[in-house]
Amino acid sequence: MNKVVSIDVTAVSEVVSCEEIKGQAAFAKKCNEALHDGSGKGNDFLGWLNLPSSITAADLDEIEATAQALRNKCEVVVVVGIGGSYLGARAVIDALSNAFDWLQTNRKNPVVLYAGNNIGEDYISELTAYLNDKSFGIINISKSGTTTEPALAFRLLKAQLEKKVGKEEARSRIVAVTDAARGALFSSAKKEGYKMFVIPDNVGGRYSVLTPVGLLPIAVAGFDIRKIVEGAAYMEKQTAPDVPFEQNISEIYAATRSELYKKGKKIEILANFNPKLHYIGEWWKQLYGESEGKENKGIFNASVDFTADLHSMGQWIQEGERSIFETVISIENPNQKVEVPTDEENLDGLNFLTAKRVDYVNKMAELGTQLAHVDGGVPNIKISVPQLKEEYIGQLIYFFEKACGISGYMLGVNPFDQPGVEAYKKNMFALLNKPGFEKEHEAIQKRLK
Ligand code: PA5
Repeated sequence: MNKVVSIDVTAVSEVVSCEEIKGQAAFAKKCNEALHDGSGKGNDFLGWLNLPSSITAADLDEIEATAQALRNKCEVVVVVGIGGSYLGARAVIDALSNAFDWLQTNRKNPVVLYAGNNIGEDYISELTAYLNDKSFGIINISKSGTTTEPALAFRLLKAQLEKKVGKEEARSRIVAVTDAARGALFSSAKKEGYKMFVIPDNVGGRYSVLTPVGLLPIAVAGFDIRKIVEGAAYMEKQTAPDVPFEQNISEIYAATRSELYKKGKKIEILANFNPKLHYIGEWWKQLYGESEGKENKGIFNASVDFTADLHSMGQWIQEGERSIFETVISIENPNQKVEVPTDEENLDGLNFLTAKRVDYVNKMAELGTQLAHVDGGVPNIKISVPQLKEEYIGQLIYFFEKACGISGYMLGVNPFDQPGVEAYKKNMFALLNKPGFEKEHEAIQKRLK
């Protein structure tokens, strides 16, 4: 590939020296090797490691054909899922989409909407009202097939679709993405005869964007999933353990984060200077937060959208408690070109920018922010992405996933489980008096009295 995603960690040097990062090289490599030889924690969830190089042309054909069938029938496709079952797709679709495409009446791509990632009654009510006069389809994604939020949303949407187009036609507009043999979604999909895709057993939700979980909605939205996979496959090679540390951007990122954490930098803020990357931040937070935050350890992950958040959280970042570091995703080249026009009266005083590109102003904001934050005691890591195009997004995804696996091992935790997520579910089921939770129901009622 001509252009590649790259990393620059020189702006952490006031807190962590180059030598200290290099001092972590052998350990980062050992952790990378442990991922590849399966000797680390959670080694039954390593299927994501070689997804890009192992996905077949037939797999991609099937995803594209299913996406095309939905595209042919639907103005709107609702992706039902939560956590790893929707964030990757949403991150990629938002990053690649024209921000105003969904407002166009003569779109060539269906609008992709999301449900099952919250339990907001107003949200689902407004969504179903919007869908009333639309021709729509559903991609229902749940690995376990038993998660409450998507199950509830799917029940409502399925009933609406069946009422609107009849049971048989509804069947042709519903696709299930789930486990190969278990769970309520698997059973209902089998019974109803929905088109089904399998999430491999050894791929956890937050590492599943390069399976049909992410690729099917992305293809429905009209993007080239082959290029995404191609970019990810390139990064799979570039982050393999046999690539020297100095060229291995996932190992460098993991080693730098690990050193910063040891120096008391407990919060990492992922910043972008492009509103299309908001959901990349949401996906990244889930990937790292759920992978590392356990055993009372782990960097807390936050994200900001600049320059908007420079006018809110920017104050805290510049002068608040010095427990943070910042990772900036920088898009080298925009896809469009807009120059600042001249204005005879110059009432806004902006003529000094005449004929400059808007992106030039953005880049100066980015550089000015980096310098200010470093001066304010916030170490800065820069991830450069050549352009918002499928192949680079594929590279970025794999880079972050690989670094997350290495980081988790460097921290000494299992980056592939999420035991803490069960606590709220147990209480919610007890409160709802779900069958099987009778004892917990009694106990929680007593506690609340
Ligand atoms: O990363 C994970 O494993 C989780 O975030 C899951 O993706 C999320 O809880 C949804 O689970 P499921 O796909 O089983 O509905």
